[in-house]
Amino acid sequence: MVRTYFRAGAVTALLMSGTALAHAESLTMYCGADEAWCQQMARGFEAETGITVDMTRKSAGEVYAQVKAEADNPKGDIWWAGTGDPHLQAAEEGLTEEYTSPMMGELQDWAVRQAETGQHRTVGIYSGALGFGYNKDLLAKNNLPEPKCWADLTKPEYKGQIQIANPNSSGTAYTMLATMVQIFGEEKGFEYMKALHKNINQYTKSGSAPIKAAGLGETTIGIVFMHDAVAQTVAGFPIVSVAPCEGTGYEIGSMSIIKGARHLDAAKKFYDWALRADVQSKAQDVKSFQLPSNKAAKQSPAAPDLSTIKLIAYDFKKYGSSEERKRLLKKWDDEVASLPQ
Ligand code: F6P
Repeated sequence: MVRTYFRAGAVTALLMSGTALAHAESLTMYCGADEAWCQQMARGFEAETGITVDMTRKSAGEVYAQVKAEADNPKGDIWWAGTGDPHLQAAEEGLTEEYTSPMMGELQDWAVRQAETGQHRTVGIYSGALGFGYNKDLLAKNNLPEPKCWADLTKPEYKGQIQIANPNSSGTAYTMLATMVQIFGEEKGFEYMKALHKNINQYTKSGSAPIKAAGLGETTIGIVFMHDAVAQTVAGFPIVSVAPCEGTGYEIGSMSIIKGARHLDAAKKFYDWALRADVQSKAQDVKSFQLPSNKAAKQSPAAPDLSTIKLIAYDFKKYGSSEERKRLLKKWDDEVASLPQ
């Protein structure tokens, strides 16, 4: 009798846990920021909502390719962070869901403009200027002059000293390519990329890898977003950040809900949560020094001050368009990457 009682109890407990499991909310997140920030966001959301987050970090072009490949059978729910251009491309191709968050009124104009450009299938979550950084100890050791301008980086004395990511995988490197085309015009912009190619020691997959390598003394110069260079300096590495003299492009890091998301409610909850000022203010705790999109979010005093940097009028609509991205990337593969160094 006693045994039966316990058995029945065990069955009830099993059934209850089964019910709980069936109802447990979860969220699959494709994350385009640095690993530490991705972890902070995933764990922070779990802690506050009890929704389990399955997070993978990938570069912007890689997430775009995955979302496209999975379009018939979507596995991801939310694509958080990464440069805005591939988010806009996905929006144009209908790979992401239209959503207007009740948080929109708290955002900077540039973040709202990004949403408008993407037919409300994406939104701006942070911004940051492109530039480069160098290891001052290695620069001195190699007797190299301090590079100040984009033009300096193509000088023969920097041969083998510079690292940048591959624009096919990396949103950072795509921003660089689109920036050169916008500053110098298409023909001269590509001439620039070809001349730069001679000085590149490695094209990495992820955008911030070159400045991490510079911090460790594996390359002298890394072309990256300035906030990623500042993060290395703050971490104690001998990195100096440079805002190039000709002016520079910038990113609007973005977030999108994946079309056909299996956990649409959880994705919307995450979307609203990620736009909150207190959530965005925590980025600096993991050395992410981008400019937050919520007007009330706090930024670290160490972060690059965008108002002092000469920014170009980056055309997000054009360079985020599917056709233009495809065209520029193919041209870079055909005319730049294929050249001998
Ligand atoms: O988190 C660092 C960061 O530079 C972001 O500002 C940017 O959106 C993202 O990484 C770009 O990464 P990738 O170049 O690897 O696509």
